[in-house]
Amino acid sequence: MSHEPIILFEGKLIDTREKQPSVALEERGLQFGDGVYEVIRLYNGTFHLLDPHLARLYRSMEEIEITPTFSKAELIHWLYELTEQNNFKTDGIIYLQISRGVQPRNHIFSLDLTPTLYAYIVPKERPVKLMAEGIHACTEQDIRWLRCDVKSLNLLPNVLARTNAERKGCQEALFIRKSIVTEGSLSNFFLVKNNILYTHPADHLILNGIVRQYVLSLASKLHIPVREELFGVRDVQLADEGFFTGTTIEVLPMTHLDGSPIAGGHVGPITKALQKAFQDNIPIQEKRSRLV
Ligand SMILES: Cc1ncc(COP(=O)(O)O)c(C=O)c1O
Repeated sequence: MSHEPIILFEGKLIDTREKQPSVALEERGLQFGDGVYEVIRLYNGTFHLLDPHLARLYRSMEEIEITPTFSKAELIHWLYELTEQNNFKTDGIIYLQISRGVQPRNHIFSLDLTPTLYAYIVPKERPVKLMAEGIHACTEQDIRWLRCDVKSLNLLPNVLARTNAERKGCQEALFIRKSIVTEGSLSNFFLVKNNILYTHPADHLILNGIVRQYVLSLASKLHIPVREELFGVRDVQLADEGFFTGTTIEVLPMTHLDGSPIAGGHVGPITKALQKAFQDNIPIQEKRSRLV
C-alpha cells in the first residue's frame, strides 16, 4: 500500500485494511473528470500552507459550480483527524479530490448532486538530491483548455506531456503556448535574468500555484524584484537561472532545457536563496493546535 491505511471517504474515516471504499460507475469524476483536487504538503506531520490550498479548492469548486455539502470547518476537522488517526508524523502529502457526484451519464449536470469527497495521505520525502543538482526539462506544446487556473481532474494533456518528457530523459515538461512559456506539467516556472525574477502572470493560462505565491512572498522578503510577465523559450535559453515550483518539489532548479545547459548548467544564487528561505520556514515541530 503506497498510502496510509486510514482514508477520508464521503465524510467518514475508514480503515482500508478492513474495508475498501467503493465508487459508483456513474460517478462524474470517473466518467468526465468532472471535479477538482488539491495536493497539500505535510512536513513532520504538520500541514504546510493549508489555508491557501483550501481557498483555491473552494475557488475551483465555485468556478465549475460544485456546491459542497460540508463546511470548510468540517473539512479542516476531517483533515486533522486523517493525520491524527494515521498517527502521521513524517513528510508526506494529502491528496484530496471532490467530484460532482453520481448521476445517470449525461453531459448536462444536475445541480442537486452530492459531491464525492475523498482524501488520503502518501508519505513523501523532500526531493533533496534533485533540489541540489537541478533537473533537465523538455519543451512540450501546451494543448490544455483555457481555464488552467481551475485545478480540475482533467489532466490528460499534463499526463501526456510529462510522459513524453520522461521518454526524452527529462524530469519535467515545460509548456509552450503560442511561443510563450506558461508553466510545467505539474509545476510553475520562474526564470532569473539580471537579478530579476520572472514568471507567467496568474491568469487563466496557468494554475496559480500555492508554492508560486509563497515563493513570490519569499522573494519580496529577500528584496528580489519580481515581474509577472510573458516570456518565450529564447528568454529561458538565455536566462541566468530557471526553476520550477510546486507542493512536492518546492523550488526545483532547471539546469538544462531540451538538452542544452542554462547558464552553464549550474544551480544559481537566487534559486539557492529561495530554497534556503523555503527550507528555513518548514514546520519542524508537530503543532497540535487546531485551526478549528
Ligand atoms: C499545472 C500545474 N501548475 C502548477 C502546479 C503547482 O501548484 P502548487 O504550488 O499549488 O503545488 C501544479 C501542481 O499540481 C500543477 O499541476
